[in-house]
Amino acid sequence: MWVTMLKSSLKGKNSKIIRGALNKTQFREQSESLFLTSGFTYQTAEQAEAIFKGDETGFQYTRYANPTIDTFEKRMAVIDGSESCFATASGMAAVFASLMCQLKAGDHVVSATALFGSCREVIKNIITRYGIEVSFVDGKNIDNWEKEIKSNTKTFFFETPSNPCLEIVDIEAVCKLAKKNNVKVVVDNILASPVLQNPSKFGADIIVYSGTKHIDGQGRTMGGAILSSEKFREDTLKPFLRHTGPCISPFNAWVLSKGLETVGLRVIEQSKTAEKVVEFLSKHNEIELVNYPFKKNHPQYDLAKKQQKMGGNVLSFYIKGKKKEAFKFLNNLKMIDICNNLGDTKSLAIHPATTTHRVLTYEERNNQNIHENLVRLSVGLEDFEDIKNDLDQALIAI
Ligand SMILES: Cc1ncc(COP(=O)(O)O)c(C=O)c1O
Repeated sequence: MWVTMLKSSLKGKNSKIIRGALNKTQFREQSESLFLTSGFTYQTAEQAEAIFKGDETGFQYTRYANPTIDTFEKRMAVIDGSESCFATASGMAAVFASLMCQLKAGDHVVSATALFGSCREVIKNIITRYGIEVSFVDGKNIDNWEKEIKSNTKTFFFETPSNPCLEIVDIEAVCKLAKKNNVKVVVDNILASPVLQNPSKFGADIIVYSGTKHIDGQGRTMGGAILSSEKFREDTLKPFLRHTGPCISPFNAWVLSKGLETVGLRVIEQSKTAEKVVEFLSKHNEIELVNYPFKKNHPQYDLAKKQQKMGGNVLSFYIKGKKKEAFKFLNNLKMIDICNNLGDTKSLAIHPATTTHRVLTYEERNNQNIHENLVRLSVGLEDFEDIKNDLDQALIAI
């Protein structure tokens, strides 16, 4: 016998993220309980039938739903400002399922060009295998989206800010256009995190996350989430996800719930340090240019300010030189790790052209400004002075 405490009386967002949707057992545990079980048992065959039929509520099987996952999903919906959430095994499982659950052969997708390597691979080379047509556009210009709409256009997809050059798409403008044309909008909100940007406020239908990034933010687990209206979750997502099975492990969902308790504080502190790092790098002799949405000379600074609460903890910069100099810089780092993860408490740096965006062709990388001298940096929670000193010595030693 366990008790579900929805704590519906809680008013504040933080209180709901920390205490809401709690599935507490009779043992009165203080922390969230971890239901590490694949299946659930039934008192009678009749009860099994009733639960499968939907006449009685109850958990059946973790591929469908699980109390630990349920807590994480409900808290994710609160932080994102969406009606409902379905957790997945990784961010890429969320991206893939958010598209495949709603598309069929003959449908058309319009996607921004500026995408993370695996997102681009899924949209360009994987979903097209199933008879889905795709057009890529420069997502910064609303006219480009409009020009690509056809009678079979079903979905728009974009990242904002994009990985790794931090391009911004006008969420509200794209969503308005989509609504007029009966198109669903999927936003990859991974770089901003739900702390700094809530795309549903601007009309987005589906929002995808990698829990691996800021939500865990401590390098421990993989995970993902798809946020949407209750109707989309029930009618479109649930039948697809339940039967295809990209579910998150209850253990990972538990870790991500614990991450949600502090993600707000972490992302704000990381972003404050990132702003100082941007200022420092922008004046450095060895740097050509820094990409950061809240930097005054970012081409979409005003739009970024409208959509995001802060600039975020991810930035990228061009080192004077070529691949050799970029590699030397990375190899010179003493504290900051070379790592393709982001949103972590530890500062992490990577060379996108040879790692996260390696699957793109040379021309595709050039179109996205992912040149050989570009480095992406995810600012962690270390002291600014230590981050600055490490970057400085690594740059000087090139
Ligand atoms: C923009 C973006 N989308 C999706 C993903 C995929 O997330 P995951 O690694 O959890 O599958 C990433 C990971 O880096 C990303 O940066």
